[in-house]
Amino acid sequence: MARLFSEVNKGRVRMRHKRRKSSPFPFNNAGGRFSVSFAVWISVFLVLFIYFISQITEKTDGKLIRVHPNHLSVTYELEDIEEEPNFRLPPPHKRNPRAVKRRGSKKKPPAYSEFLDESSELHSVLFPDRRLAVGPNAGNDSSSTGYFYPGHVWLDTDGNPIQAHGGGILFDDRRKTYYWYGENKDGTTYHTQPKGTARVDIIGVSCYSSKNLWSWKYEGIVLRGEQQNVTHDLYKTNVLERPKVIYNSKTNQYVMWMHIDDGNYTKASVGVAVSKSPTGPFTYLYSMRPHGSDSRDMTLFEDDDGRAYLMYSARDNVDFHIGPLTEDYLGLTGVMKKILVRQHREAPAVFKHGGTYYMITSGCSGWAPNRAMAHAAPSIMGPWENVGNPCVGGNRVLRLTTFFSQSTFVLPLPGLPGSFIFMADRWNPSNLRDSRYVWLPLKVGSLADEPMDYSFGFPLWSRVSIFWHKRWRLPEGWKNVN
Ligand code: GAL
Repeated sequence: MARLFSEVNKGRVRMRHKRRKSSPFPFNNAGGRFSVSFAVWISVFLVLFIYFISQITEKTDGKLIRVHPNHLSVTYELEDIEEEPNFRLPPPHKRNPRAVKRRGSKKKPPAYSEFLDESSELHSVLFPDRRLAVGPNAGNDSSSTGYFYPGHVWLDTDGNPIQAHGGGILFDDRRKTYYWYGENKDGTTYHTQPKGTARVDIIGVSCYSSKNLWSWKYEGIVLRGEQQNVTHDLYKTNVLERPKVIYNSKTNQYVMWMHIDDGNYTKASVGVAVSKSPTGPFTYLYSMRPHGSDSRDMTLFEDDDGRAYLMYSARDNVDFHIGPLTEDYLGLTGVMKKILVRQHREAPAVFKHGGTYYMITSGCSGWAPNRAMAHAAPSIMGPWENVGNPCVGGNRVLRLTTFFSQSTFVLPLPGLPGSFIFMADRWNPSNLRDSRYVWLPLKVGSLADEPMDYSFGFPLWSRVSIFWHKRWRLPEGWKNVN
């Protein structure tokens, strides 16, 4: 930005210098030539004018609705800005005494860490009762069919809570089916040390299949934790997190990459597994330290040209690394770029729109939520720039905590260019198996409800927006819109 300013200032000096010689009018006296500076200012004015026109807002039934003349009408409803006026953090003196005691009275915990304690007032708001579960067999009336309820228990077609945390989705073109893979955390939460991270033993990676993204059939555990062999990467007391699966059309294999660690998170590696079928079983191949570096939260991204990339938090989560996979997707080429340097980010979710690459990340605060950041890049290998907090609506606390969740994946919605589903985890560290899913509509090119914190509000990149909704569904005919 400093460079941009100095360029602008140099420009001003040059302009002042020129003006002394030429007429102050747009057409100079000599030959009626159009002044360059006038043309520049006219262009700037026009761009700003178009930008402000596109931000016209209307008020309907007390709800703020933005009008986007350039967006598909079927997705308008996804962009309603829903406020959450009744959601309030308890005042400090009403804070849960157990939570305050645990952290010591001198240290003031961040307001939203309140939710970490199961007995807090806020907990039941963020983790609604099982009676409010949603899903195909939830037993509620048909009016909730097809609706996503962020934070509610979500049941599969057998009526069991979905266990696919830190997950990602593969659309299998040949089967025209979505497969959702994620950590099965259906075990007892425990701590190895009193102040250590809450954890569950590795159970494995679950897989669910769906045609409509709402009704999910359990396909079983497609990669199992190891019960006997203590030296195995997947031995139950180790860590398997954030599995992601992509399909390699050259080898006709489904390839899974995941974060592999020991119980203390010092192994900091990635693991690779393969299968001939999307529903497994996957064969675990090996783990490695990518590019010789430690690696924790990670994700995969497959580009339109069939090249795939691994991105991961490196150097104790201080930086991020990105590098292409080999053609068979089983390893890494030697190429690696450092991105988001010294930004301390994790939980990456990458997607692409209109030739630009985007990524959502979280800050590093374990299971506790924090403020998301969107990043954009003209090329997958960077340079990546921060483009602000994508969260829109709800209220300030919800926006500063990514709606009390942490990113894991962004799924493009076929037929709706620029529309995606943002998938995140609302972790429950007191009972990890009861962690919830926060799925919300994400749009590129939509508008912010707070000033963009980059480029002084001047949009160099398209805005990435994740819209808060208590309940929402995919627009009618979302698969068929072309
Ligand atoms: C988070 C990370 C999760 C999990 C957790 C453990 O920072 O994103 O995937 O590792 O820490 O505390």
